[in-house]
Amino acid sequence: MSMRLKNKVAIITGAAKGIGFATAKRFAQEGAKVMIADVNPEAVKATVDLIPGSEAYAMNVTDRASVEAAVDQIMQRHGRIDILINNAGITQDARLVKMTEAQFDTVIDVNLKGVFNCTQLVVPHMLEAGKGAVVNASSVVGIYGNFGQTNYSATKFGVIGFTKTWARELGAKGIRVNAVCPGFIATEMVKAMPENILKDIERRSWLGCLGTPEEMANVYLFLASDEASYVNGVALEASGGISL
Ligand SMILES: NC(=O)c1ccc[n+]([C@@H]2O[C@H](COP(=O)([O-])OP(=O)(O)OC[C@H]3O[C@@H](n4cnc5c(N)ncnc54)[C@H](O)[C@@H]3O)[C@@H](O)[C@H]2O)c1
Repeated sequence: MSMRLKNKVAIITGAAKGIGFATAKRFAQEGAKVMIADVNPEAVKATVDLIPGSEAYAMNVTDRASVEAAVDQIMQRHGRIDILINNAGITQDARLVKMTEAQFDTVIDVNLKGVFNCTQLVVPHMLEAGKGAVVNASSVVGIYGNFGQTNYSATKFGVIGFTKTWARELGAKGIRVNAVCPGFIATEMVKAMPENILKDIERRSWLGCLGTPEEMANVYLFLASDEASYVNGVALEASGGISL
């Protein structure tokens, strides 16, 4: 078995489900010590049981104190954080004219402020070590926008802004920052979409199907690993070519 992340300490937010879970599994296979960071404590425990060598950190990315507590505990146990995967994200869809202020604020809080919180609290430890890799979850919606996703698309465009800014600020200090822009991936988030829209998406992808969480995990793996040592500030679209 190859070991592309041997002994790396990796925090994955939103790791209890979907793409985050598949990424946690893949990283563990590659020798990483995976910190399962998710808002749902029971789901975190259940996930750790499924992933050898992983550890449970129940935290809410919107709550700085809970993120700080987890980061402190990880530093005490391991003395370093090599990889941060900012994967936690939610949708609350509605057309512009129907979107409530609460829907707008909640999605901005998790998808945008949450990424800011986690990165700001982890990066000082990476700076101390003089190395690190951050990979953020954007989306094709963060490149092209999407019907019914005013709040979500703003956050995913924003995450690309974070990525390019932090890639400039941190690159010379040994920290690479990149983003993944998945197309439509078969997770609960996407399965919640109306059937006719899902069919249309499959038709529009040039590979003729939805992506899988495991396919996205491989993209995270590449960007987080030393194989991507000269890759910094990219927003890597993994969508089956849906935009072509
Ligand atoms: N599924 C897709 O097609 C798709 C496409 C493009 C981008 N993305 C992005 O990829 C990421 C993962 O998506 P997914 O489909 O696997 O989602 P998912 O809903 O399957 O899983 C998301 C996980 O994040 C956790 N989470 C939610 N709010 C949190 C918070 N405040 N603090 C900590 N954890 C929290 C949830 O508990 C859950 O375990 C998201 O950022 C999403 O926007 C997904």
